[in-house]
Amino acid sequence: MQNQLTIAMPDDWHLHLRNGEVLTKVLPYTSRHFQRAIVMPNLQPPVITTQDAKNYQAEICAATPAEHKFTPLMVLYLTEGTSAADVKQGFLAGDVAAVKLYPAGATTNSDAGVKDLEKIYPVLAVMEEIGMPFLVHGEVVDSNVDIFDREAVFIDQKLIPIRRQFPNLKIVFEHLTTKDGVDYVRSCDSHTAATITTHHLVINRNAMLVGGIQPHYYCLPVAKRELHRLALREAATSGDHRFFLGTDSAPHLAQFKESACGCAGIFNVANSMAILAQVFEQERQLDNLEKFASINGPEFYNLAVNSGTMVLSRSDTALALPADVKTAAGNIKIFDPQMPVHWQVSAINY
Ligand code: NCD
Ligand code: ZN
Repeated sequence: MQNQLTIAMPDDWHLHLRNGEVLTKVLPYTSRHFQRAIVMPNLQPPVITTQDAKNYQAEICAATPAEHKFTPLMVLYLTEGTSAADVKQGFLAGDVAAVKLYPAGATTNSDAGVKDLEKIYPVLAVMEEIGMPFLVHGEVVDSNVDIFDREAVFIDQKLIPIRRQFPNLKIVFEHLTTKDGVDYVRSCDSHTAATITTHHLVINRNAMLVGGIQPHYYCLPVAKRELHRLALREAATSGDHRFFLGTDSAPHLAQFKESACGCAGIFNVANSMAILAQVFEQERQLDNLEKFASINGPEFYNLAVNSGTMVLSRSDTALALPADVKTAAGNIKIFDPQMPVHWQVSAINY
């Protein structure tokens, strides 16, 4: 049995860091294991302009522990009023890395998102021209579409028409949760890629619904049935360059998840690399972990692979779940994968 693995330092291509005290508490969990992260812009108020992104980036950099080497890659929150000129200028200046589509009402803080996709076509045309990635929360919001079908319906009703209109636009289908999504991405050329979260490789919808309602397994898009989890595991561990890690680590105070109307999001970044090593070992694909966590993402974003390395080690005894994160306003629970995890990050060499 393999007991050690060295990979190029990973990046996280889909991360929620929040701001204020929560940012300072959660950021070190990311910056110690990831050298870069695509930082989601769904703050309140959202990160809409390049100037907003620069301000948020400065706040993140000020909160990064001095001993960590971490670069936040900034994302603009697309609205129907987004200025194509600002997007272009921000990207060409290196201040923003991507633009994120939140269909209005799809998830946490998405009210300012897009209702009519055609209104954002001028921005997409500019992004296609300059090679700027378009990150998509791929769920429809129609109340008559079952929540478990919203990703598959989005592909047919929204994504295929966008792709037809903009054949060279770089699209990242974020936090893929279905076999339909995997099949769609596989059917595309290399202008389309997808992030896959840690938790969707581990849980199916039973984790959320069996034995009482389990709010700490509720996230959006919701975990689906087992056949979808298996398709995601196959895609993530296959080494296919179109699939890469986006933890979608999304911290919420426990009291807001353990509520009559609990909010969506799983905080998984503290133990993501350990859990991923366990998953790749289970699939007998440990050699592909580096592609998923460290190589395929930068390749899609046209960035160099990190020069630093991470060493992961396996021990015979399973490791304890890290302790909850404490903030003045309440605790944030760490994702419990409900399986023994024998791997841990044992060294980082920048
Ligand atoms: C995210 C959040 O809390 O910001 N929640 C989640 O369940 N993933 C929003 C998102 O990525 O949809
Ligand atoms: Zn997210």
